[in-house]
Amino acid sequence: MPPRNDAALTFLLSRRSRPAKTLVAPAPDRAALMPLLRAAARTPDHGKLEPWRFVVIERPAMARLADLTSKAGARLGKSAEDIAKARSQFELGHLAVAVVEVQKASPKIPAIEQTYSAGAVCLALLNAALAAGWGANWLSGWASHDPDFSAEAFGLHPHERIAGLIHIATEASAPPERPRPDLDALTTWMDQ
Ligand SMILES: Cc1cc2nc3c(=O)[nH]c(=O)nc-3n(C[C@H](O)[C@H](O)[C@H](O)COP(=O)(O)O)c2cc1C
Repeated sequence: MPPRNDAALTFLLSRRSRPAKTLVAPAPDRAALMPLLRAAARTPDHGKLEPWRFVVIERPAMARLADLTSKAGARLGKSAEDIAKARSQFELGHLAVAVVEVQKASPKIPAIEQTYSAGAVCLALLNAALAAGWGANWLSGWASHDPDFSAEAFGLHPHERIAGLIHIATEASAPPERPRPDLDALTTWMDQ
């Protein structure tokens, strides 16, 4: 049996995101971010396809992404309110990692399993950032699901899409706990 890791269990039983809009500078620099990306890349991946990659959005790139969000919003007929909300993710952002799902052709591994693995990378990165003492939040938004925006903003190819935008910076104030699921309602025990 692997040894019991109480610190890891305590972290997992208490971890929670910090809303992106409450995060402040500093964000991790490249040296501080690398171990977090390494932890995220240590994610279950059926067939060793590595169906994901990272695009690190540093502060100077945020204004360009906010402007591209407005452009995408106008093209998609979004309301001024929707555009302003989507822009704010980038206007307020200090550093974010776009976790990109990269679908790989495989006779054996279904596409959905590659999607699951990309989602798992998002959580692994979020948890690594939180465990390292950063505030972090997994966001998406309508723009991140738009292929034209994703191509122009992040250089994504047609077989790629955004699994999540993981914002990482410094916590300014601890958020209150939120209601957690009722495990009894979610869990079925099968003993035969
Ligand atoms: C795939 C995905 C996309 C999300 N996108 C957004 C978003 O765009 N905006 C938002 O306010 N919350 C979004 N959330 C929810 C936040 O990440 C929220 O902080 C999180 O559910 C809090 O969970 P925790 O307290 O267990 O860390 C998203 C969550 C997931 C899993």
